[in-house]
Amino acid sequence: MTNSTVSSNAAKYLALEEQYGAHNYHPIPVVLERGEGVYLYDVDGKQYFDFLSGYSAVNQGHCHPAIVEVLQKQASKLTLTSRAFHNNLLGEYEKYITEYFGYDKVLPMNTGVEGGETAIKLARRWGYNVKGIPENQAKIIFAEGNFWGRTLAAISSSTDPSSFKGFGPYMPGFGLVPYNDLSALEEALKDAHVGAFMVEPIQGEAGVVIPDDGYLKSVRTLCDQYNVLFIADEIQTGLARTGKMLACDHEKVRPDILILGKALSGGTLPISAVLADNEIMMQILPGEHGSTYGGNPLACAVAIKSLEVLKTEKMAENAEKMGERLRKGLSDLNSPFITTIRGKGLLDAIVIKHANPDASWDLCLHLKDLGLLAKPTHGDKIRFAPPLIINEKQIDEAVAIIGAGLKLLA
Ligand SMILES: Cc1ncc(COP(=O)(O)O)c(C=O)c1O
Repeated sequence: MTNSTVSSNAAKYLALEEQYGAHNYHPIPVVLERGEGVYLYDVDGKQYFDFLSGYSAVNQGHCHPAIVEVLQKQASKLTLTSRAFHNNLLGEYEKYITEYFGYDKVLPMNTGVEGGETAIKLARRWGYNVKGIPENQAKIIFAEGNFWGRTLAAISSSTDPSSFKGFGPYMPGFGLVPYNDLSALEEALKDAHVGAFMVEPIQGEAGVVIPDDGYLKSVRTLCDQYNVLFIADEIQTGLARTGKMLACDHEKVRPDILILGKALSGGTLPISAVLADNEIMMQILPGEHGSTYGGNPLACAVAIKSLEVLKTEKMAENAEKMGERLRKGLSDLNSPFITTIRGKGLLDAIVIKHANPDASWDLCLHLKDLGLLAKPTHGDKIRFAPPLIINEKQIDEAVAIIGAGLKLLA
């Protein structure tokens, strides 16, 4: 592995984390203290392109002025009431987001993984109350390679040993089918105890794995045919990231349950949301599900503004155009070390081939030194997902940096 140089200033921060924090991450050795738009700045004032965007939470760009303005204003007025009482923004937010995405109702949560847990609880309830699955027999089907977080339920559906190994026993009632395999899915859905199929329209953490055209449409058809709910985990793919407001929009497909998170706050707060129609949402009754922070007025104000700027600043359209430019630029580099370039909008990845098994990690260290931050996912893949406000000149500069970094692998 390449050794990365860290300033003595930065080293102080790394040492504190090393000593006092759990070692549950393996970050690129850079210590950031400021963000603005597509850029991040480290503690020594060095500027970087952010090509991760907080795992797609910062679609709107770092410290988007309109989002920060609303955040600051609301923070000085009212931040949390809990759901023991009403607040003056929850209803307004619920109306805004349900009309925005065309669902009857929303259930507000905080992190993405809570959104996934909520969707599964809703699907189980629907399975018992509406589909007529015998009590405690409901099954939820997932796709191999999925990632939806780190809770015990989420790791119980994972096929990645680094997620699940050593944390059992696991949640019962979960099944797996290969991603992008419709006949395996159909076989699984024939089981009358299946309540839902939960899937990412593009598998982000797996390395931006894109299913065949028509996959989502066929998932919709199969779910209808077997009376199974289609849950779309759009926590990473949603909110303009792939060049449409939702990745499902590429195939004009409407899931029964839609899970959103990450960019719902533009990277300022943990805000997630589960959207569904009444037949599903009304199966959960008062006192049966919730969260202290879910639906807090600060989150409501921030989420409305975060959604609004996606539309007013045409971020989906920009993601579509800049994504094409990025992939073309990467392909024009003609690097012998890139075997695959794939992506939709600004959710893109390259696959690295090199005699050195640590080459993708080493490349990310070179990119850091050259002024661009990205991180490998699953060994040989590097995701490139800058904020959606990036412009042509910045894409071209970033591609030049990536080209220079690749040369250093030689
Ligand atoms: C598709 C998907 N679902 C769910 C999650 C979990 O979100 P969170 O980390 O906010 O719990 C992630 C996080 O990367 C994700 O990519």
